[in-house]
Order: sequence, then structure tokens, then C-alpha cells
Amino acid sequence: MFKYVNDVSNIAHNIIKNTISRNTALDATLGNGFDTDFLSALFKRVYSFDIQKHCIENYKQKHIDNVTLINDSHANMDIYIKEPIDFAMFNLGFLPGGDKSITTNYESTVKALESTLKLLTCNGIVTIALYPGHEAGKIERDRLLRYAAFLPKQVYGVLHHSFINRENNPPELRVIEKK
Ligand SMILES: C[S@@+](CC[C@H](N)C(=O)[O-])C[C@H]1O[C@@H](n2cnc3c(N)ncnc32)[C@H](O)[C@@H]1O
Repeated sequence: MFKYVNDVSNIAHNIIKNTISRNTALDATLGNGFDTDFLSALFKRVYSFDIQKHCIENYKQKHIDNVTLINDSHANMDIYIKEPIDFAMFNLGFLPGGDKSITTNYESTVKALESTLKLLTCNGIVTIALYPGHEAGKIERDRLLRYAAFLPKQVYGVLHHSFINRENNPPELRVIEKK
């Protein structure tokens, strides 16, 4: 078992542990709630979005006080979040074990990312887990790569992690830090 080079979600979680400010976090895709669980243990307040009602309803059963659940697209996040964000997690693609036709897409992801970058604090971090193993995920990965490549380097550090010795388009992780 690898301790560091394992799963993109774990790598993102390790990055979160190094964040300086621990006030507000965003989980742009709640899904089964594993990332929200992790964030809620570290941050004072967590906003979690999902377009699938059952994801929201399942998570509600946990009654976690510092998590605000929003059953809407993350593309509309500027309606709901009016405060600075220290950390944002975009775990893209479809829900593992769920309906594979309900997947994130480039247009709404970029809209959410733009809103996030505006609210991101100094040294705030965004992690984006990408899944190019399916067709929609490949398009999203390629377009987001182009989008992130043009973020001004004076303001944003952008790092891309990929497994170069694995087959079948393994997941990738992009990390953006605001100066
Ligand atoms: C890979 S899963 C997320 C995994 C999750 N973070 C976890 O810990 O289980 C992707 C989720 O994104 C959701 N999703 C797709 N498009 C979305 C959108 N525009 N806004 C918010 N959530 C979306 C899907 O419904 C799905 O639950």
C-alpha cells in the first residue's frame, strides 16, 4: 500500500491538512459525503453542493451542524456563498455506485471555479480531481487543463498531478493556490 501516491482524494486530503486558515471550505460535489466528512472535521463551516437530491437527503441524516447542504448546481454557488473560502474541493465525474449519466461538465465546473477563485483567500487552495477514464471526463479534463493554463501566474500557482505508470486514463489531480 502506498502512503502518498495512492488515491487522488487522499492526496487532496493530505494537501488540506497543510492549509493555514481553517474557517470556510467548499465541497463542490457532495456525492457520498466522504470529502464533506473530512472537511467538516477540519473547518468551522462547510458548504456542500450536489444536484442529486438523494445525496443531500442521505447526508442530512448525519445532522452535522457545521455543514450547509445545497441541492443545486455548484455553478450557482455565488447565490449561496457570501464569505471568503479557504479551501475548495472539486471531486468531479459521476457518483461511484450511482447513475453514471449524471456527471459534472466543463461549463458548470468552470463557472463554479471562477466564483470560487473570486472568493478564495490568500494562500487558499482548490483541489480538482479529474476522471478522464470516461468520455465526458476526458473532455472536462482537457478543457479544464486549457482553462487553468491561462490563469495569471502572478496570482495563481497551478500544479497538476498524474500517474504516469498506470494504464486506462487514471484519475488526475489539479491544485490551485492563490497568492
Ligand atoms: C465523484 S462524485 C463526488 C464524490 C464525493 N465528493 C464524495 O466524497 O463521495 C461527483 C458528484 O458530483 C455531482 N454533480 C454533478 N454535477 C454537479 C453540479 N453541476 N453541481 C453539483 N454537483 C454535481 C454528482 O451528482 C455526484 O454526486
